[in-house]
Amino acid sequence: MQPDVKAFFDDATNTVSYIVREPEGRACAIVDSVLDYDQAAGRTDTKSADEIIAWVKSEDLQVAWILESHVHADHLSAAPYLQEHLGGKIGIGSNITVVQDTFGKVFNEGTAFQRDGSQFDALFNEGDSFHIGQMRADVLHTPGHTPACLTYVIGDAAFVGDTLFMPDFGTARCDFPGGSAEDLFGSIQKILTLPDETRIFVGHDYKAPGRDEFAWETTVGEQKALNVHIGEGRPMEEFVAMRQQRDAKLGMPRLILPSLQTNMRAGHFPEPEDNGQRYFKVPINTL
Ligand SMILES: [Fe+2]
Repeated sequence: MQPDVKAFFDDATNTVSYIVREPEGRACAIVDSVLDYDQAAGRTDTKSADEIIAWVKSEDLQVAWILESHVHADHLSAAPYLQEHLGGKIGIGSNITVVQDTFGKVFNEGTAFQRDGSQFDALFNEGDSFHIGQMRADVLHTPGHTPACLTYVIGDAAFVGDTLFMPDFGTARCDFPGGSAEDLFGSIQKILTLPDETRIFVGHDYKAPGRDEFAWETTVGEQKALNVHIGEGRPMEEFVAMRQQRDAKLGMPRLILPSLQTNMRAGHFPEPEDNGQRYFKVPINTL
């Protein structure tokens, strides 16, 4: 089964959002949406999400699911806004509870912040499956970048979030709290057991040396042969050393603080203070 996949690229955060739909039928899922955010002004915008809404309406689709591959650290999720306008259930990996526990502490959230994933409509585990209309989606737990990362396998399409990037760019960083290069290596091997012709849709693209166009679709076969970090059967020890060395040089993503505080709440903002205003916190010298 080959679902139709429509990609939306967000230049501001290099994020790719997807609408995956039944080849025949109107049911679809939205994967990894973006809520635009102007950090300097503390102001959100729905331009990116509105493009998705417009597409869903123009194609007369029915949104069954709004899926998150993980708690993103570089952009805010538009899941609640999309749900309000299009319906559908919001799903994420069950290890969201680990992420909520970690960042609940980082942001000194009070007891009002539930660490049980209850902000989401569904929590998925390894081996779970669910349906998008007649289409079956299978869940792979693929931790490493974060503890809650999932890959959604829908027909011949795998939405890998931030595990693998395009073959010429490599793999995702593993240095956020709860990340693990060893886990990422194992997760990638799991993805690479899918048939070679499986289409892989990545969560971000940053171009790569020698490539001038953004790209987000590749295959398992291409990744096995060509991925600059794990291709041609690179051994785990080598991968882990390379990954840790690279991660040590990376700065924090520009939007990590507002992103985490929003996305760990399924895309909702922190509760308002007694003046009715919502705020993001900035923990000093912590991340
Ligand atoms: Fe990420």
